[in-house]
Amino acid sequence: VVRRGALIWLLALALPSAASAHAQLEGTTPQRGAQPDRAPASVGFRFSESVSAGTGSVRVFDGNGREVQSGSPEVDGKRVTVGLRDGLGDGGYTATYRVISADSHPVSGGFSFTVGSGGPGAQSVDRLLEASASGPVTATALGVARGVQYSAIALALGVLLLLVRWPAGFDRAAFAARCRALLLAAAAAGVASGVAGILLEKAQAGVALGDVLGTTFGWSWASAIVVWLVVAGLRTPWPSPALALLPALGGHAASEGPLMFGSNVVHVLAIGGWIGGLAVLVLALRAATSALEPDRRGHLLSAVLGRFSAFAGLAVGVVLATGIVQTIIELSAWRELTATGYGRAVLIKLGLFAVLLGFGFVNRTRIIPRLEGTPGRVGLLLRRSLRLELAVAVVVLGVTGALATYAPAKVSDTGPVSESAVIGPARMELTLDPARAGVNELHLYLFDRRTGAQYTRPKEVTATASHGDTELPVELRKAGPGHYVAQQTLLPKRGRWTLAVSARVSDFDEFTTKLKVDVR
Ligand code: HEM
Repeated sequence: VVRRGALIWLLALALPSAASAHAQLEGTTPQRGAQPDRAPASVGFRFSESVSAGTGSVRVFDGNGREVQSGSPEVDGKRVTVGLRDGLGDGGYTATYRVISADSHPVSGGFSFTVGSGGPGAQSVDRLLEASASGPVTATALGVARGVQYSAIALALGVLLLLVRWPAGFDRAAFAARCRALLLAAAAAGVASGVAGILLEKAQAGVALGDVLGTTFGWSWASAIVVWLVVAGLRTPWPSPALALLPALGGHAASEGPLMFGSNVVHVLAIGGWIGGLAVLVLALRAATSALEPDRRGHLLSAVLGRFSAFAGLAVGVVLATGIVQTIIELSAWRELTATGYGRAVLIKLGLFAVLLGFGFVNRTRIIPRLEGTPGRVGLLLRRSLRLELAVAVVVLGVTGALATYAPAKVSDTGPVSESAVIGPARMELTLDPARAGVNELHLYLFDRRTGAQYTRPKEVTATASHGDTELPVELRKAGPGHYVAQQTLLPKRGRWTLAVSARVSDFDEFTTKLKVDVR
């Protein structure tokens, strides 16, 4: 675990509201696995942060897979409740949710409970959610839409920076014309990826368009489309700094404190000037200089690049500092840098950032000083170096699109873990809560693989948990049809545990399976 030094202390003080991004389910009414005598009037979920939930985002199914909720869910900050129909009979019920957390990420899950005794068993949460799940293609496409949107913002900011910092005494008409074309291209990409982002978020969350537009992600992305239309209509880059708010509003920073929000906005502004500026140099500078006499061209190139590289030196420091601040806020332990997808994406960014620094160093110390006079071969070398640098930067922007899509490390590193495996004719779903070294609550649900109904044939279900040389019994108790609980499961070590489960269905037949669970 990270030793919280003075800096992190300060961060903690500055961030009293730093909740974990990505809403997590903290409790349900009735409780998971409860066995009330009569059906409750409503079913409720309590999350770790406020969520948005539209019509159909909470559903309750009876044992035959029929929906039994009445009306739309009611959202009260972190709580979502839906009423149940009157006169529900005995049997198993499964409640599922698919809501949007404040950081724009859809989260889903569910639980089962049993009313009275008898009646059909509850359906599997995984199976019910599978029916409305959008799959990895939608998530990847949303990551790409974010990457394109961020690149468009960077390009517009780059145009603004270079137009403002164009050296006096040089005609800038040809350069400005090229910049306008780039700005229009950025606006087209911004509008297209903006529309795609909203539609993909809608598909991923499985809610109506109006519900998406009611979330911070929805309205901020819709506002970005309006800003892009103004940029295109007036052909001016001046509104583009407002777009630097978009990643913070529509991403993880939205659900964290002001330090994360501010760092994210400054990070994006610095990146816009630096990477966007680089793109403008690669794409517009040649047009602006090709008509000039060679020695005047050298003069102009060295003036423009000298000014840009002074800005880039400053921007690099700001990007690194704000990147580190955001990383510290989103991580709760150093090992999450390698253990989680989020952490690995940050490491890839850091590696590519170092490559970019290398390019910048060579340009500044070796190439730019030789540009004065006739650029010739040096000019060619510079163009190649800038193009390569830009290509690496575009990869970083793509990785960042993915970064925004991953759950922050500290969230994927906490909360219950679910796994499933096949055991004879049944499918077994396991939930281990909180999946940390120490005492855990373990739930096992068995479902018939053919019908999806609860699998009630076992006369006895036993389990052991092992890790290396350690083997411990798991005290399972039957909690309902096809549902077994071990409330005090001691898993003393971190690491990958193997759970061996046996289901005895008669004196002669026993099905066994093993599955691995990560304990953090
Ligand atoms: C060329 C270098 C870089 C580029 C182009 C870049 C780009 C971006 C962009 C566009 C965002 C806003 C996206 C969002 O919040 O959804 C962002 C956020 C972020 N960046 Fe960078 N960045 C760079 C370097 C770094 C470095 C060196 C670090 C780490 C030390 C870093 C860490 C982060 C983190 C943690 C976030 C917050 C992501 C989130 O949780 O949503 N970045 N970056």
